[in-house]
Amino acid sequence: MENDISKVLISQEEIQNRIQEMGRQIAWDYRGKNPAMVCILKGAVMFYTDLLRAMPIQLTMDFMAVSSYGKSTKSSGEVEIRKDLSTSIENRHVIIVEDIIDSGFTLTYLTRMLAARGAASIKVCTLLDKPARRAPGITLKADYFGFEIPDGFVVGYGLDYAEAYRNLPYIGLLKPEIYENH
Ligand code: PRP
Repeated sequence: MENDISKVLISQEEIQNRIQEMGRQIAWDYRGKNPAMVCILKGAVMFYTDLLRAMPIQLTMDFMAVSSYGKSTKSSGEVEIRKDLSTSIENRHVIIVEDIIDSGFTLTYLTRMLAARGAASIKVCTLLDKPARRAPGITLKADYFGFEIPDGFVVGYGLDYAEAYRNLPYIGLLKPEIYENH
């Protein structure tokens, strides 16, 4: 698996150190608010579990799985809910936890949808942000982010290529020959 990586972009130690900082910050901002922490499967799962363990406050956990229609072009910005939350977020302070913001369509859709369900507030927390890839007209910004990264095919720490590499403990750049051959 490691042979398919051309470069370690963010090391395991850098990720873990940054998550400790983010956890402290978010826990301070949400002290006494019992935030509803929403994990967007699957990519965010590693980040989510480490982040929540770095937050020494009362909170609740819930999970959603979504998929974008027309993933290759993402022209529509439509998002399909494959698994919905199992608890109500009405009057709750919601933090959506994502692994990456790319075009921004997924989170734009999700923040609107969860707002319509009567959340008291909604914020977005992402490990990675690729601002260079934001689609025209998308103004969404992360309230909390770990790292801004340049455009490039990144995998690891939850992020996949064809469902592989999610279990790498770091964020790496995939060798172009891996995805160009498919
Ligand atoms: C990825 C990522 C975000 C979304 C970001 O999910 O986890 O949900 O794409 O892209 P966007 O900003 O262009 O909308 P993906 O659909 O690959 O599913 P996964 O998390 O299960 O890998």
